[in-house]
Amino acid sequence: MSASPEILRGVRVMQAWSRAGRAAGKRIALVPTMGNLHEGHLSLIRLAQAECPLTIVSSFVNPTQFGPGEDYASYPRTWDADLAKLSALGVDAVFAPTVEEIYPPGDRTRVVLGWGTDKLCGAFRPGHFDGVSTVVAKLFGATQPDRAYFGQKDAQQALILRRMTEMLCYPLELRLGPTLREADGLALSSRNIYLSPEERRRASALFAALESAGSALLSGERDAGKLEALGATALSELELEYFSVVDPKILERPERLRDGLVLMACAARVGPARLIDNHVYRIEGERAEEAALF
Ligand code: PAJ
Repeated sequence: MSASPEILRGVRVMQAWSRAGRAAGKRIALVPTMGNLHEGHLSLIRLAQAECPLTIVSSFVNPTQFGPGEDYASYPRTWDADLAKLSALGVDAVFAPTVEEIYPPGDRTRVVLGWGTDKLCGAFRPGHFDGVSTVVAKLFGATQPDRAYFGQKDAQQALILRRMTEMLCYPLELRLGPTLREADGLALSSRNIYLSPEERRRASALFAALESAGSALLSGERDAGKLEALGATALSELELEYFSVVDPKILERPERLRDGLVLMACAARVGPARLIDNHVYRIEGERAEEAALF
């Protein structure tokens, strides 16, 4: 169970590996990552392995999803530690291309979805979700998976990628894993290492704000504006970007929440780090409960 994974760096060799797996009748899972693996990533990999006999993990810090002034250059790259974790899990293959392999000189290809990409985080990170859609479209082409696994931690990303998969007619299924958290509720993230001990303590306010607005929703509050105000107040100590309560079908706030799914999402800056988190609920009449996005 703990043999070293096969490390593939080229698109063509990756495709040949997948073709051989499929010819052997095996379903193939892809877990896309930017490396710096933590338990959140590992939980997605375990989910993939439970459902598919072959699992590919991709490790690629994607330049096109970082804006000017964002942390592309300083994003933590921890290849040796990552590989040790992937070996311990018995992952079958790691796709770790160079930037030139994914974006050959002169490549201008972009997937511009025009759906949801300017809402929530997109309003603060112009072009970010086009970069995500572009790289994931390329990763799908290179790895040819039957199923791809994403975290609900990045709910908007998951919704956009589900749409991208449909619009580009990829013959694969997207699966979602739950958000893994620290004991105080802070969602695990590669960017948590940017926090000083004092900032780390304050960072748990994101989870606390979601819990506070969430408990109002669970006890019957259906005015989305009031829930947003509750969340924003709980985050007044941080540099808040947004605390939004939206219908995940359109990523916009309905005046009153009705039956169906609700996405409560927030983003805030804590010192040098930009942190995001969310809760999802399903409403049925008077009743509401925490739910999975899909
Ligand atoms: P990255 O931030 O490395 O995350 C890889 C996957 O892990 C994503 O699907 C993300 O939602 C999931 N994840 C992150 N934190 C998690 C947590 N605390 N619990 C559970 N899952 C978690 O997201 C990206 O990379 C990139 O945008 C990518 C999709 C790879 C495209 O470049």
